[in-house]
Order: sequence, then structure tokens, then C-alpha cells
Amino acid sequence: MLSKSKMREPKTFWALATVFSFLLITSNALAADLSKGESIVKNQCSACHKFEGSPESKFNLKGPDLMWGGNKYQRPWLLRWLQGKEELLYPNGYRWDSPSKGFKHPALSKVDSIAVADYFEAKLLDSRVKKNAIDLSEFTERESQFGAEIYKQFSCLGCHQIKEDGKTIGGPISANLFDSGNRYNVDWVYRFALNPQDFTPHSGEYLADLSGLGVRYLVGYLMTLGVDDYKYYEPWKSDAFKKSDAKNGAKVYKTYCTQCHGMEGKGDGPGAQGLDPKPAVHAEMALSDMPEDYLYNLLFYGGKSVGKSPNMPDWGLTIPTQDFADLIAFLRSNFKGEEAPKAEAVTKVASKGSGTCPQPRKTKSAPVSFQSKKNPLSDSDSHIAAGKALFMKKAKPLACMNCHGKNADGTGPLGKALKPKPRNFTCAPMMKDISDGQMFWIIKNGSAGTGMMAFKTLKDKEIWQLIKYIRNQSN
Ligand code: HEC
Ligand code: HEC
Ligand code: HEC
Ligand code: HEC
Repeated sequence: MLSKSKMREPKTFWALATVFSFLLITSNALAADLSKGESIVKNQCSACHKFEGSPESKFNLKGPDLMWGGNKYQRPWLLRWLQGKEELLYPNGYRWDSPSKGFKHPALSKVDSIAVADYFEAKLLDSRVKKNAIDLSEFTERESQFGAEIYKQFSCLGCHQIKEDGKTIGGPISANLFDSGNRYNVDWVYRFALNPQDFTPHSGEYLADLSGLGVRYLVGYLMTLGVDDYKYYEPWKSDAFKKSDAKNGAKVYKTYCTQCHGMEGKGDGPGAQGLDPKPAVHAEMALSDMPEDYLYNLLFYGGKSVGKSPNMPDWGLTIPTQDFADLIAFLRSNFKGEEAPKAEAVTKVASKGSGTCPQPRKTKSAPVSFQSKKNPLSDSDSHIAAGKALFMKKAKPLACMNCHGKNADGTGPLGKALKPKPRNFTCAPMMKDISDGQMFWIIKNGSAGTGMMAFKTLKDKEIWQLIKYIRNQSN
């Protein structure tokens, strides 16, 4: 800061001199406080923590290194920790090679903890940690889900516990990450993730093979843990979408989409040949009614991200933001499902909903081991209610209601254009022949070549809750 001031023009001298004397006064006051913080650290902390020098093997340490303490923590967390208001982080004690039961961390008064935090922030800085090296202002919920998948795929859960549905899961080797979104400074986690061994050599920590985007997803995910009201970015509410231009969107569609989906969206582009399943027939679909997050994620991250064919590419890196918004405006205004074929000839048998009953059904059978599975949940109202919430709203990538309909009779808005039609769960004579295990398998894996996608992110229990709800519709 001072060196920058020195480079200024002479005519700003007076202004600078005033600023300067102000800085001197405040820095004197701060220096007094810093010396208090420094002496606490020297006298009460340095027996267990290192505050200078380079990191050493964990097997020589008594507590985590704090050379970068000024970069690592969010101040409110640090103040709580120093006053003894936070739970310990290491389930087996800090040193996994020599577990310490009953350890209590020393606690400071509020005044002393402020002095120590000031000292950390002024003196314990690590030049490798760069401010704003990662920008999460546009971090989306979908990106966080990718991060959660990486967390499990790359073994993080093997050594760091987290909370899932209020339960503690994972191995106890290192710090728990229950509350990492309130604890870490994002710039530190980002730098740490680029190479953990720079900070904790010979500790047992490992380096995951992640690309730049993978690191973004993972770090962003860690910053959501413990933060109940994390504000995800919702791209479809951004300015680009507010000023979108469907005319330009039509050009984008021609450039990127017609090769497979055809000039008029009939699914008959030159690229469609040889694809199984075939590209969707937009001309018959109510893209106008598709939930905004689903349509956005499908186009941005591709078919595979929503349990559909990976032959539907991810366009996020290819199409610039404004063109992307324009494209979606075009899809919504152009494809409203009006040309949808009339409902199949109805052979109506007594069923609650208005859908066809029974339906022609060619769905692939689940493997025998699944066919005979019975729903392990009780008939309690709470399971049925949980199933209903998933069905109507919560299931990702797309709530069942959108295709199977609000009344579960197979007449949802996005089901109209589908061949075959979504299952009509109100049709008792048909449903009695579909076993619990069959449904479980289809919900998990999808019905290849139909609109029924794979719901890979649903937990087993959630699938059984959905099946409770579905059964309840034909009883
Ligand atoms: C008797 C040894 C000991 C003393 C003295 C001690 N600490 Fe610690 N400290 C630890 C241990 C062990 C942990 C890890 C505890 C856990 O979370 O399970 C820890 C954790 C911390 C953490 C969190 C580190 C992290 O990122 O996980 C901070 C910050 C900290 N101590 C600061 C201090 C300060 C400041 C003092 C002096 C006022 C101090 N400690 C005194 C042993 C000590
Ligand atoms: C084999 C066990 C192991 C695996 C797998 C592992 N870690 Fe670690 N992790 C450690 C150890 C040990 C440390 C060192 C903590 C210490 O001793 O200060 C650590 C440190 C960390 C820290 C800093 C903790 C702190 O507060 O100082 C973070 C954050 C972290 N790991 C995240 C991850 C993520 C994300 C993954 C998955 C990509 C992962 N770890 C995989 C063992 C592991
Ligand atoms: C390489 C061929 C290909 C290209 C190019 C392509 N798609 Fe697709 N698209 C597909 C396939 C295949 C499916 C069917 C996926 C399935 O049913 O599993 C599909 C499905 C869709 C769906 C329906 C998804 C659903 O939930 O039913 C939409 C909407 C869509 N594509 C939009 C687009 C847009 C917009 C573009 C241009 C930016 C585009 N596609 C470019 C192959 C392609
Ligand atoms: C994009 C539209 C769509 C969505 C969303 C959707 N389904 Fe389906 N579903 C279908 C279609 C189409 C079929 C018929 C598939 C077939 O005939 O093989 C189907 C069939 C089924 C079947 C019948 C399996 C069988 O063996 O007959 C079950 C069970 C089912 N869906 C459950 C669900 C649940 C639960 C959800 C929400 C978590 C859901 N579906 C979401 C379109 C959808």
C-alpha cells in the first residue's frame, strides 16, 4: 500500500500527507494490539502450533500449523474457536498416529481472542494464497451437486466426515468438514486444493486428479457445507435472460441444434441417423413448460447430467452467455407442444385419473434379483408424504409430476409429446402387475429409449418413498 502511494504525483502530496498521518496513528494503535496478540501467541500457543517457518511432517506436530492462520479462517469462526465455542474438528484427536482422548483446547477471553485474530490477520499471511483467485459469485446449485459427487468419487469422504440428512458419515482420519463453509476463507481452500502437500506434507492427505472445473466444483461445494441459506446463482434470472432475443436464438438453434434435431425441430437432422435414443422431437414438446433449471442444466451440462443420452452434448463452454439466453428464449417461444398428437385411443377402465388405462406397456423387465424386492418401508403417512414431495417438486433433475402429472395419471405437461406415454399410476388393473422391485430399478436406471430418465442422485430410501406414494394412487 505504501509503495503504491510513493508512486503518486507530487500534487497529491497534501492529501497523501493527511492520509499518512492517519495511517501512522491507526498503525500505532494497531501495533499496540498486535504486540498483545503476539505475546499471547508466543506464550500460550507456540508450544503446540508453528507460526513461522515451513511446514513439517505431521508426525512432529502437536497441533495444526498456523503460519497461514491469517488466510485460512473466516474471522467470526476464528473468534468462536479461540473462545472455546466450537467443537473439536478431529474425531480421533489431531494426530491419527497417537489418538488423544479428552483433549480440551485452551480458551481465551473475548478481548484476547480479538487481539489474536488481529495478529493472525496482520502477520500470519502466506503469499501463495491469492485474493479472489476463485470467483464463486456465479456458483450454481448444479455445480455444487457436481462437487458433492466429486467429494465421494475422489475419496474425500474416506477421511473427512460430513453431515448428510443430519447424520455424520465418512472416515475419521482428518478434520471434519461439517461447517467448512463458515470456517474457511475460500482463497485458502482453493490454494490448498491445488496441492495439499504444500501445506500438510507427510500427513496422509492426498492430491486428487482434478481439472480446473473439478476444483471449482469441489471448492464451491465445500463452501456451502454448514451454510443453510447459501445463495446459489440462478443463471436464468440474470440480465442476459431479461434482455434475451428469440430471433437471435433461432440463429443459434440453426447453427448448433438442427444438425441433430432437424430444421423444424422434428428430430430428423442429418446427425439423427444412427443415434439411439433419437434426438427429441422439439416440434411436439412443450419446451415452454419445462422447469427453467431443468432446461438450463440440460443444455449447459448435457444429456448425461440429467440422466439422458450423452449424445445430447453439453453446450456451456461452446455457446456464449447471451446467445445461450437467446436460444432458451427461442425454444420457449417456438416449441409449445401444440402439434402434440391426440391422446391414444382410450380404452377407459375405472381409474381415478383421466389418463389411458390400461396403457400399452413394453418396458424392459428389471433383473430377476430386483423383480422380487419388496418395499422395506412401513405404510406410515410420513413416507407417503415424503414420496409426494419428491414426486411433485423435489426430485432432481426433473420432478415426476412434470411427466406423470399432478394426479399421477400420466398426463403431465412434458409427457404429452412422449412416445411411449408416461405411466398412469392411477390405473389399478395395470399397476397390480408391476412389482415394487421393477419400479425401483426403472426409477434408478431409467427406461432406455423412452422419456423416463435415470434418477441417479435419488437415495434408495427416497426411491422407496416414491414407490409408497405411487402405490397409494391406485389403492
Ligand atoms: C496443548 C496444545 C495446544 C495449545 C496450547 C493450543 N492449541 Fe490450538 N490446537 C491444538 C490442537 C490439538 C488442535 C486441533 C484440535 C481439533 O480440532 O481436534 C488445535 C486447533 C487450533 C486451531 C484450528 C486449527 C485448524 O485449522 O484445524 C486454531 C486456530 C488454534 N488451535 C489456535 C490456537 C491458539 C491461538 C492458541 C493459543 C491461544 C492455541 N491454539 C493453543 C493444540 C493446542
Ligand atoms: C487418505 C486420507 C485423506 C483423503 C482421501 C483426503 N484427505 Fe484431506 N486431509 C487429510 C489429512 C491427513 C489432512 C491434514 C490435516 C492436518 O493434519 O492438518 C487433510 C487436510 C485437508 C483439508 C484442510 C483441513 C484443515 O482444516 O486444515 C481439507 C480442506 C481437505 N483435506 C479436503 C480434502 C478433500 C476435498 C479431499 C478429496 C479430494 C480430501 N481432503 C481427501 C486426509 C485425507
Ligand atoms: C449430436 C446430436 C445432438 C445435437 C447437436 C443436439 N442434440 Fe439435443 N438431443 C440429442 C439427443 C440424442 C436427445 C435425446 C436424449 C434422450 O432422450 O436421452 C436430445 C434431447 C434434447 C432435448 C430434450 C430433453 C428432454 O428432457 O427430453 C432438448 C430440449 C434438446 N435436446 C435441445 C437441444 C438444443 C437446444 C441443441 C442445440 C444447442 C441440441 N439439443 C443439440 C442430440 C443432440
Ligand atoms: C421426462 C418425463 C418423465 C419424468 C420426469 C419421469 N418419468 Fe417416469 N416415465 C416416463 C415415461 C415416458 C415412462 C414410460 C416408460 C416405458 O414405457 O418404458 C415412465 C415410466 C415410469 C415407471 C413405470 C415403470 C414400468 O416398469 O412400467 C415408473 C415407476 C416411473 N416412471 C416413475 C417415475 C418417478 C418416480 C419419477 C420421478 C422421480 C419419474 N418417473 C419421472 C416419463 C417420465
